[in-house]
Amino acid sequence: MRIDILTILPQLLESPFSDSILKRAQTKGLVEVHLHDIRSYSTNKHNKVDDTCYGGGAGMVMTIQPIADCIDKLKSEREYDEIIFMTPDGELLDQPMANQLSLKKNIMMLCGHYKGIDERLREKYITKEVSIGDYVLSGGELAAAVLSDSIIRLVPGVLNDETSALTDSFQDNLLAPPVYTRPSNYKGMEVPPVLLSGNFKEIDKWRTEKALERTKARRPGLINKGEE
Ligand code: ADE
Repeated sequence: MRIDILTILPQLLESPFSDSILKRAQTKGLVEVHLHDIRSYSTNKHNKVDDTCYGGGAGMVMTIQPIADCIDKLKSEREYDEIIFMTPDGELLDQPMANQLSLKKNIMMLCGHYKGIDERLREKYITKEVSIGDYVLSGGELAAAVLSDSIIRLVPGVLNDETSALTDSFQDNLLAPPVYTRPSNYKGMEVPPVLLSGNFKEIDKWRTEKALERTKARRPGLINKGEE
């Protein structure tokens, strides 16, 4: 899989991709992440990438030219399955969306800033608009990092057995059950005895019960999500 991220702040995105699982995915050759500085595509003599809003009003709008040139160049090099714009008015990211995107080959992500991007860019190039939650970030970069992380960890071979995504919260519309590790007694706080019993049928049953209990208490809407 290849992810191309278009941003005016490439340095902001360097660290999330240089550590831990996202780094390992790239070192293993399973995923390529390329950051593109939109400003370097600007033909303006001051490398401007934004301008005032037609019709008046506060806030700047990202201009068409540098973004269009960057997208056109990338599209001339390979076909993209999705060109995603990170925006608070996009479709809400959830686990099924991450699952679907993890099957794609080439994905572009465009990070917005200021008041947004010129609407004509959205009409011409964008195939999917994604929000990571109902709140407004200063720019799309952190959202693109979140979306990338949710996708990359699902690419086959990225996680090993111990970190397997199959037991994640949300994979079966349930939150994950509680987990424990050594010691079995910490200052009088004990691990549920069933987990020490070695009876895997009982352990599975206990985990399912706890996952259901937790989901009902915290996210009841998830339980019938498929039917909503
Ligand atoms: N850009 C600003 N806020 C955002 C959000 N909540 N999701 C995606 N992109 C954003």
